[in-house]
Amino acid sequence: MNRRLAVLISGRGSNLQSIIDAIQGGAVAASLELVISNRTDVAGLERARAAGLEAIVLSPSDYPDRDAYDAALADLLRRRDIGLVCLAGFMRLVGRPLIDAFPNRILNIHPSLLPSFPGLQAQRQALQHGVRVSGATVHLVTSELDNGPIVAQSVVPVLDDDTVETLSARILVEEHRLYPEAIRRVLEGDWLIEGRRLVRRRP
Ligand code: GRF
Repeated sequence: MNRRLAVLISGRGSNLQSIIDAIQGGAVAASLELVISNRTDVAGLERARAAGLEAIVLSPSDYPDRDAYDAALADLLRRRDIGLVCLAGFMRLVGRPLIDAFPNRILNIHPSLLPSFPGLQAQRQALQHGVRVSGATVHLVTSELDNGPIVAQSVVPVLDDDTVETLSARILVEEHRLYPEAIRRVLEGDWLIEGRRLVRRRP
């Protein structure tokens, strides 16, 4: 598989940082070619530039509609011969033009054990539901929100005195371990999709 990565962000970029660190440290054999943000002035862009990476802002307001924006993203990623697209806190629904251009080649990380608590404020949803464990999920992106085949998950306990902040912090630590590991698995495996499941093709 083409090991040229792009990471799409909207903010803080701590997962981006974990991917940068894993590649620089040799844990993930890949090259991070491009970081794209849909927002200007976010910390993730600074992290990318500090690591010497190309960091581009593609602003949705420069495009007439969602499809045009997603088509522009797809075009940029294709021109750079990207093999795997990693969403890392990219706060936009990804539409058909991008999904069709990179079928089963877009990953996302979500701060819950999917299919529980998709969408926004997953940690708050977990606390409100009273679950005793939550966690993080890396999955393939499909047109259904937070619902593509699961690549990897990690369980995090929910403590009696947790707040959204303390639970989010505990999950984030796991995310930083999980995302590089999931990227490594996707790049190194020969995968196929059976129903909802991602399964490794037997040699
Ligand atoms: C993470 O919790 C991720 O699971 C969610 O958005 C957050 C992004 O954080 N999709 P960061 O920008 O990577 O620090």
